[in-house]
Amino acid sequence: MDTLNNAASLCVTGAGPARGSLRVPGDKSVSHRALLLSALARGTSTITGLSLGQDVTHTRRAVERFGVNVTVAGDGTVRVAGPVRHEPDDVLDHGNAGTGIRLTAGVCAGIDGFSVLTGDQYLRRRPMERVAEPLRAMGAAVDGRDGGRLAPLVIRGGNLTGITYAPREASAQVKSALLLAGLSARGTTTVEEVHPTRRHTEEMLEQFGGRVSVDGARVSVEAGELTATDVVVPGDPSQAAFWAVAALLADEAEVTVEGLYTGFGRSDFVQILQRMGADIDFDLTTGTLSVRSSRLRAVEITAGDVPGIVDEVPVLAMAAAVAEGTTVISGAAELRAKESDRIASTTRMLNAFGVSASETEDGMVIEGGARLRAARVDSHGDHRIAMAAAVAGACAAEGDTVIEGWDSVATSYPGFARQLMELTGAGVAPGA
Ligand code: S3P
Repeated sequence: MDTLNNAASLCVTGAGPARGSLRVPGDKSVSHRALLLSALARGTSTITGLSLGQDVTHTRRAVERFGVNVTVAGDGTVRVAGPVRHEPDDVLDHGNAGTGIRLTAGVCAGIDGFSVLTGDQYLRRRPMERVAEPLRAMGAAVDGRDGGRLAPLVIRGGNLTGITYAPREASAQVKSALLLAGLSARGTTTVEEVHPTRRHTEEMLEQFGGRVSVDGARVSVEAGELTATDVVVPGDPSQAAFWAVAALLADEAEVTVEGLYTGFGRSDFVQILQRMGADIDFDLTTGTLSVRSSRLRAVEITAGDVPGIVDEVPVLAMAAAVAEGTTVISGAAELRAKESDRIASTTRMLNAFGVSASETEDGMVIEGGARLRAARVDSHGDHRIAMAAAVAGACAAEGDTVIEGWDSVATSYPGFARQLMELTGAGVAPGA
């Protein structure tokens, strides 16, 4: 099955309804934080259900460079023996992972030592000033290409002082970098968000014995030691969103995804799909998502919706393509700073399937009611574009859909192609 994970391109031959029950990989956001907090904590932490995607593997290797021993048992249980022993002994390569590099930058700022952080060609184009600027304000020396705005980043950390900082963008990554740096800063470190974002760092800091307080969109942390604990990583709701939309692209489909994270800020796509008329239910006590074929209508997505669905827009756009009416997305300029420029790459993906969609400065306009035709899609190195296209190819477009840059999917969801085949009966093979 590795051939499907690492294929440069994938050919998906549809089209049929998605039917069945499945589990998705461990939550990627939780996985990065579980590794980093375990590395900072005194004692041995145990992590079960860690994401096996490349993004998280890069964070695991980074943690080892700090002298932290990480072992993986045969059943997948990961043991991390903290705390961090020294500055990283080599360059930290974060691959494609924005969360990995930004959160680790916060850890590096808190360490009395020298760190270099880099990543792949896509990550090196993404904005790093959003973390560099506040970390400098706390007392770290942060430099990089383009005046310190782009990776590779060089950080000389230690001797930090807590600050109160209001990031310009709603970003859990920026918030988390500052909270992690704040663990070793004098006084209190406070982040005031423009819009509350996912709270994994806050939740997990508490679990590791950190002194953290949340008051709406204002989060503070005090310096202090963390204590090892056991973390169970729940399923990733952002990955479940692909299967939810799969169930909405064809008649007679029904999909159940079990064991998902149910906390704040990660399941807003469910409400968006409900607004579109989808027959979808998310049980917050069990973390089970159930979706059945539905007639969808267009939706208006505005700035307030966006922080809760930053990662789901490409696949929600696919749902909008088959919905009745015109969907307008605005206030989503942050999407241009993701693994790809997701306003451009999502629009191009829709166009390739024969959907009439156009970019605006901070969003897109999607004409619904499309009958999708098989397409050749460029993922632009973005796993979420690749998976959204694969779902459309399997469930709604007759013929052969070829997705170039399929190997990006291994960053977050090895095994996606196999599950797609099982769930939809679509033909899936390395593409030409
Ligand atoms: C993440 C935060 C989001 C999201 C990313 C994961 C996190 O990024 O897009 O996939 O784990 O904190 P931003 O903080 O840039 O919005």
